[in-house]
Amino acid sequence: MAFPPSFIDELTARNPIEDVVGQYVTLKRSGANLFGLCPFHGEKTPSFSVAPDKGIYYCFGCHKGGGVINFMMEIEGLSYPDAVRALAKRVGMEVPEDEQYQSRYRQQERLWALSKEAARFFNRQLYLPPGAQGLAYAQKRGMPKSTLIRFGIGFAPNSWTSLCDAMREKGYTDQELKDSGLASVSQKNGRIYDRFRNRLMFPIIDVRGNVIGFGGRVMDDSKPKYLNSPETIIFNKRKNLFALNLAKKSKLDYLILVEGYMDAVALHQYGFDCAVASLGTALTEEHAALLSRYTENVVLIYDGDQAGQDATRRAIPMLERAGLQVKVLQMRDAKDPDEFLKKFGADRFRILLEESSNRVEYQLRAIAKKYDLHVDEDRVRFISEAAEFVSSLGNAVQREVYGTRAAEAAGISYEAMKIEVEKAYRRRLGREKKKQEKIDLSPAQKLQPKSRSIRYDNMKSAMAEEGIISMVLREPALLDEAQSLKPETFSSPLLGKVFSQLRERFSEGLEISVSGLADLEPEEMSHVAGILQRQRGPVSEQAFRDCVATVQAENQSSHIETVEDLMEFRNKMKERKGIRE
Ligand code: UTP
Ligand code: MN
Repeated sequence: MAFPPSFIDELTARNPIEDVVGQYVTLKRSGANLFGLCPFHGEKTPSFSVAPDKGIYYCFGCHKGGGVINFMMEIEGLSYPDAVRALAKRVGMEVPEDEQYQSRYRQQERLWALSKEAARFFNRQLYLPPGAQGLAYAQKRGMPKSTLIRFGIGFAPNSWTSLCDAMREKGYTDQELKDSGLASVSQKNGRIYDRFRNRLMFPIIDVRGNVIGFGGRVMDDSKPKYLNSPETIIFNKRKNLFALNLAKKSKLDYLILVEGYMDAVALHQYGFDCAVASLGTALTEEHAALLSRYTENVVLIYDGDQAGQDATRRAIPMLERAGLQVKVLQMRDAKDPDEFLKKFGADRFRILLEESSNRVEYQLRAIAKKYDLHVDEDRVRFISEAAEFVSSLGNAVQREVYGTRAAEAAGISYEAMKIEVEKAYRRRLGREKKKQEKIDLSPAQKLQPKSRSIRYDNMKSAMAEEGIISMVLREPALLDEAQSLKPETFSSPLLGKVFSQLRERFSEGLEISVSGLADLEPEEMSHVAGILQRQRGPVSEQAFRDCVATVQAENQSSHIETVEDLMEFRNKMKERKGIRE
């Protein structure tokens, strides 16, 4: 999908980056830049910068960056065309679009509207004769009317066509009913029928307020207990969380992540309006990133069974990688939060929350669980694994606190444990020293781009190439100086590509800006924004010419590495000069 470059230029000009970013991040001016807390990773001191003059953002912490379109893609989880669309809408611009894209967007909008209409239909049924059973079940599960309203809960009647009929009457086609996942197709006669029948319906709503799917619960013990919407063009289980549309407005400074719809509903009902649930799938990186947009602290509550434990262990590092502080709440005396709240009430739950251990405690307990501490051999193995783990903790106080905890669990003295921890600590130091030595041997390593996909083969040339790109972006007229410089001469394919695009735009009289760059992966874009934000020194023609000369010289010498190369090079030079031997 390619939009005309002139359209993109106008779009970015009319959407100043500081305005767009400012809607998500509180920015404070500092010189030419604005700074704020990075929305893409958790941090307490601002390392996220916005440069209005360059039209870019860049985070010195997580190294994400780019133009205003990249920002929209990243923050709203949108595709490139959708980000363009959102920005156009923001300033009331008409989007020139290709037909394929336009029809896809229209289709999405129709499915959102259909799903919302279906949610209304299900909700109405609760208070009509066919839904009496559903209402009774909701009441049996302790849901007052306020909860039913808050979550838009409804009921799918025990009929094959009632939803389809009602939606057809509203003008939706069979194809749309199929595409939304609300209808299935009969193998026998090819006709469509209601996918959800005789179930209590939980609408799944994204953070922008669109109904994107449903989970439907049976009212007895039949299987499957929950039927969910299939993946559709508007419903992606990996990227959405149940109740986040409500929880994102919570005044509490943490989010609670649970497994079940019913658990999230009950938590909200009992005042914990920061609860969200995954959609019957394991937690994904996308979920973690989504959560980190709304909070820095997550309390994880998974069921106490083996599956829940495994899920917890997998979820912790994923959430931490997204910059989140993770606490784990061990469910006790009830199988899930819903049951707990109904048995013991909100106050007892609050105590559980306060007690909820941090990940260190949790991990130590998880290690202990692997062993039978009444058996000597197991104790020995526990002590060594626990010592290894404790030795990895960042500070001495932590090592002492959790060393004591481990010693207690193993029934040995703290002194004995301490010796084990110190041994493990020294082994670790040794390993890290070796690693560091390796790194120190190659100082060029430090200048390597953060993203592995953009490695520099020739550091000297690459630094000059960065200089060229950064100066051209600030002073496009310098491109006149670089007539003889070919993109293929660049040692970095990425920087060569950027250079060639900038020069092309220059010759066509287009804006020279980061946002004008096309066909770049997000991390490539981040890398270019980083070059621009890290730039040192003022722009000067001399500096520019030096960079160009360096790139050309490095390019030549890099071709003369072997005798064969040398011969080939000499022959070429002779040909050029018209000399024959
Ligand atoms: P649970 O079985 O723990 O359900 O499944 P629950 O939410 O506690 O429901 P109640 O209390 O029995 O009514 C946890 C989650 O796993 C998904 C659903 O998202 C559910 O909320 N799930 C479970 C399914 O998608 N399909 C199933 O058949 C079962
Ligand atoms: Mn339950």
